[in-house]
Amino acid sequence: MPEERLQKILAKAGIASRRNAEELIRQGKVTVDGKVVTEMGCRVDPDTQSITFEGRPVRLEEEKIYLLLNKPRGYVTTMHDPQGRPIVSSLLTGITGRVFPVGRLDFDTEGALILTNDGDFAERILHPRFEIERTYLTTVRGLPSREKIRLLEEGLELEGKKTWPAKVSIIAKEAATTTLEITIHEGRKRQVRNMFQAIDHRVLTLKRIAYGGLRLGALPTGKYRHLTPADLALIFS
Ligand code: URA
Repeated sequence: MPEERLQKILAKAGIASRRNAEELIRQGKVTVDGKVVTEMGCRVDPDTQSITFEGRPVRLEEEKIYLLLNKPRGYVTTMHDPQGRPIVSSLLTGITGRVFPVGRLDFDTEGALILTNDGDFAERILHPRFEIERTYLTTVRGLPSREKIRLLEEGLELEGKKTWPAKVSIIAKEAATTTLEITIHEGRKRQVRNMFQAIDHRVLTLKRIAYGGLRLGALPTGKYRHLTPADLALIFS
């Protein structure tokens, strides 16, 4: 096998997405031929050189796993939590391979979370360049006016950077709250909550219901299923 960049090899081996692999390299968790490598762009031949991650050998020929989990509220999407809160990996009973979440959902957000060991696939979902849409169902305090919804749709300034245009529709108007569907294709931290905060409507509940054309459907809370090739195609449709 020809030489490849170390972060690409780690992504292919299912350690993390390419971007996250860069962070793991920076943190000194990766060795090549027994030496810790922290600089980016190091080219390695996985056939002739030995690579380790956190002390364990990195192998390339892992079977690919693609899961869709309906994350409950009150779980963190990291695979370890220093504060000891419930972690999504504890819901993956029966999965023996290592998988990592594609992006994140807040502790209080529920719904669709894809987990995989395919770093290239994760990158295709996460990178804004590929514009994979993520759709959320949210209940917010009050009734957002047309003008405020237009601000969400056109993009508004969050931490000095404008959000990409969003699709927004009102699903139901309740006495003191409104339920809306919002579709975005960025994954900034707490983005939906912060977008509604910016128009003065607090998010009360938030659930991701779709990645691209792949909908969460009737998958029960806390349960997961394996994604089929047809499901994977739906994400990019
Ligand atoms: N936007 C948020 O605010 N939180 C999430 O968990 C996902 C999107």
